[in-house]
Amino acid sequence: LDVQMDLFAEIERLKKEKNAIVLAHYYVDGDIQDVADFLGDSLGLAQKAQSTNADMIVFAGVHFMAETAKILNPTKKVVLPDLKAGCSLADSAPAGLFKAFKEKHPDHLVISYINCTSDIKALSDIICTSSNAEAILNSLPKEQKIIFAPDKNLGGYLNKKTGRDMLLWSGACMVHQIFSLEKITKLKVRHPNAKVIAHPECEEAVLRIADFVGSTTQLLKYAVTDKTEEFIVATETGILHQMQKDAPYKTFIPAPPNNGCACNDCPYMKLNSIEKLYLCMEYETPEILMDEELRVAAKKPIDRMLEISR
Ligand code: 13P
Ligand code: SF4
Repeated sequence: LDVQMDLFAEIERLKKEKNAIVLAHYYVDGDIQDVADFLGDSLGLAQKAQSTNADMIVFAGVHFMAETAKILNPTKKVVLPDLKAGCSLADSAPAGLFKAFKEKHPDHLVISYINCTSDIKALSDIICTSSNAEAILNSLPKEQKIIFAPDKNLGGYLNKKTGRDMLLWSGACMVHQIFSLEKITKLKVRHPNAKVIAHPECEEAVLRIADFVGSTTQLLKYAVTDKTEEFIVATETGILHQMQKDAPYKTFIPAPPNNGCACNDCPYMKLNSIEKLYLCMEYETPEILMDEELRVAAKKPIDRMLEISR
């Protein structure tokens, strides 16, 4: 790369030349969020991927998100800056083990959180995200037996909130799993007016002390519109960029994890960089390519989700 190159201007040029759209998740670096055409949570990004008429979708997020865009747009080119941008939650549900688990419970419907591989999606009846999970559940009869995968924390939270007794796969996100209740409690003592806001992928103990629980978009909206001026934010730190931009006079404190580090970064989301974004747009690689039979099978439960979430 030419060090003199204005990558931001180059990315804008490539967007026009290639009729490309840059979709970004809130957890990527702030400079990528700023060049994105659309910034959103998993549901917003899937909806945008479904409705775009761009020829190339450039996905600054993680693999399962780019794969979802490809599943919805088989004729479009979908590229992502780094193919190694995986997800610990998706990794926590290997397809072979999950299939065996599902076969043990043939009378159960399978709802899977969108943070899973296409193999798991193909084994599922409905996909959900953190922003529509409750609505998806409410669309099903109370007595319906359900397997929820792969996130045990989101599943447990939903069980508690809706009074259901879903069978939970025991997966978790390495970022949300390690917030320290003790350190958050100490922070609250030092910031008595701060509200704790948390993503439902956090452990139950953290969710219990949270003033508000929601998806990244819901957390952003709450933080900006609520009259409180100070927040302790229990989710990946990338979201703070948008919170600070939308409410510059408010204070956002990243909730501390129990790993001795100061803040919680998703190592996969942070594999995205502005340099890699430029290179993948210029050379149109790495590209998401899928087996057609798997794509069609994985699309069914996503369509069902999008239908309910319209
Ligand atoms: P949402 O942005 O849909 O809340 O998901 C959070 C997440 O962990 C994405 O990987
Ligand atoms: Fe996966 Fe967690 Fe990273 Fe989201 S924050 S991409 S769930 S590892």
